[in-house]
Amino acid sequence: MKQEKPKGVYRWALSYLRPYRKRLLILLSLTIVEIVSGLLLPWPMKFIVDHALGSEPASGPASDWMAGVISFLGANRVAMLALGCVAYLIFHYASEFISVAHTQMQQSIGQRLIFDLRRQLFGHLQSLSLRYHLKRGPGETIYHIENDSYCVESLTLGGVLPLASSAATLGAMFVVLLRMNWQVALLSLLVVPFLLWVNRHYAERIVDRSERVKTLEAGLINLFHEVFTSIRVVKAFGREPHEQQRFKDQGATTLDERIKLTLQESLYAAMINVVTTGGTALVLFVGGYNVYRQRMTIGDLLVALTYLGSVFGPLVTMSHTFGNVQASVASARRALRTLQTEPELRDRPGAVEAGRLRGHIEFRDVHFHYDDESPVLEGVSFDARPGQMIALVGLTGAGKTSLVSLIPRFYDVISGQTIVDGRDVRDYKLRSLRDQIGIVLQEPVLFTGTIADNIRYGRLDATDEEVIAAARAAYAHDFIMSKEDGYQTMLGGDEGIYLSGGERQRISIARAFLKNAPILIMDEPTSSLDARAEASIFETMRELMMERTTIVIAHRLSTVRDADKILALDGGRIIDEGRHEELLRRVPLYRELCERLAMGDIPAQDEMELANAEVA
Ligand code: UTP
Ligand code: MG
Repeated sequence: MKQEKPKGVYRWALSYLRPYRKRLLILLSLTIVEIVSGLLLPWPMKFIVDHALGSEPASGPASDWMAGVISFLGANRVAMLALGCVAYLIFHYASEFISVAHTQMQQSIGQRLIFDLRRQLFGHLQSLSLRYHLKRGPGETIYHIENDSYCVESLTLGGVLPLASSAATLGAMFVVLLRMNWQVALLSLLVVPFLLWVNRHYAERIVDRSERVKTLEAGLINLFHEVFTSIRVVKAFGREPHEQQRFKDQGATTLDERIKLTLQESLYAAMINVVTTGGTALVLFVGGYNVYRQRMTIGDLLVALTYLGSVFGPLVTMSHTFGNVQASVASARRALRTLQTEPELRDRPGAVEAGRLRGHIEFRDVHFHYDDESPVLEGVSFDARPGQMIALVGLTGAGKTSLVSLIPRFYDVISGQTIVDGRDVRDYKLRSLRDQIGIVLQEPVLFTGTIADNIRYGRLDATDEEVIAAARAAYAHDFIMSKEDGYQTMLGGDEGIYLSGGERQRISIARAFLKNAPILIMDEPTSSLDARAEASIFETMRELMMERTTIVIAHRLSTVRDADKILALDGGRIIDEGRHEELLRRVPLYRELCERLAMGDIPAQDEMELANAEVA
């Protein structure tokens, strides 16, 4: 992907301001008022020094007005002093008030910008493929949404606006100074080219470096995420010191880069200071000389110095935050790169809504591999008719999970076709296709929320009765009711309880049942259940399965035995398919598998009795 130059990044960031035109207009007006009030600030001081204390004739831009005041108050110096002080107070208070309003308005726009970008990133990242997320890891994604979205604010309101307002202030003050003393006015501009040079020199370095730091920091967050989501394993293996070491190594590199970045930022700020202090000293000297030569009053010099301070002041503070602005360019590049990443799986042009499918699944000579290109599925073909139950058996790593992942298009085939109801899955609108498929994943995943919420995730508009019916079918109702809060029991979060593996599995089965889709895929759905629970679930499933095609990656012989068709998968190929008895006769591998599966099994007759006892 081509690297966006900062300029492109600014344009992109500015485009986020579009919806806030009205607020922006208010903000700009406030900025102008702020600049004008900044211009007025030193004048009461000049009035006091030149006219109340000294005896200078009125001079400068407002000289007529000033002369009027002086002649009105005549020789009453104390009155003039008091007037000067009152004006001083009013001007400063007013300017303070304006700056509060300005900050508030700026924040109210800025926070909205951040939220907008965050929402966009969140949406876009969700649309990217499973492959993308598996490769990238959740930590980095979280850092990305959380951290990088600030860039849109700091590039626009935080960066450009103060710079623009400093430039405008400088221009306005130049005009005022020009009417007081042209030499001083010109000198105050002398610093500008130097400032530009300093900027150019440091900007690109800071951007590059902070991009590196951000990538490293994201990696660190990924490590946290990994450790704390797998804290059981870490503890079980006593690997805390190992993780600590990993953190230390990775953290040390990050720290190193961060410190180098800080050095660049400090150097930059120091250079800005050197330039502006030099400029101020020059103005002080030339202005002082002019005062000495009586071409300028002390009050004028005060005004000039205050003006310089109010232009340079923001520049210097900005240079401290300038590092942030430059870091934001790095953030913006990352954000842009994400937003420009095309979702890998797109709807083909002319893709159709799936509607209610019948559930006829067909694989035609499907070849598939992951990124490393070692073949996972080779020439897989089979046919599953609506209402059939297909069992998939095979050794671990045979490609069972990969095979079923192709039906809801978690991945696309490399060659061949996956066909549902006579149409290639790529010709359906992705969302509508997945709406027709219920899945129980190999690893049950539960969200923070109540048990009912977790089941309802399968179909958000399901009624309570439907949720309970699904839970009953998944043999989960009894254990749910045994919890104090029943279906309202919280999972996860501070108050939440922890469920056993089998309980989690049953909830995820209930979720898939609730979806009531014509295709049901179950990846070892009952691996952590006892034989009795499993028997009950398959008993109810038998009824449900009438109207749907079920593909189950089987774990127990009892399941396999009842399947309409068994696919024996070995090394990515279907070595045989048929009913239980046929495969037993024909396929040695299948015989071996069945012997192993049988060890955890109970005879079919007992299962039925148990299930019936359960129902009664
Ligand atoms: P599967 O995950 O399809 O195997 O991986 P399986 O049959 O379901 O295995 P069990 O029973 O759950 O253990 C098939 C091959 O694809 C690779 C795996 O390493 C395995 O060799 N694979 C899987 C990847 O390369 N990337 C993935 O994201 C997943
Ligand atoms: Mg698997």
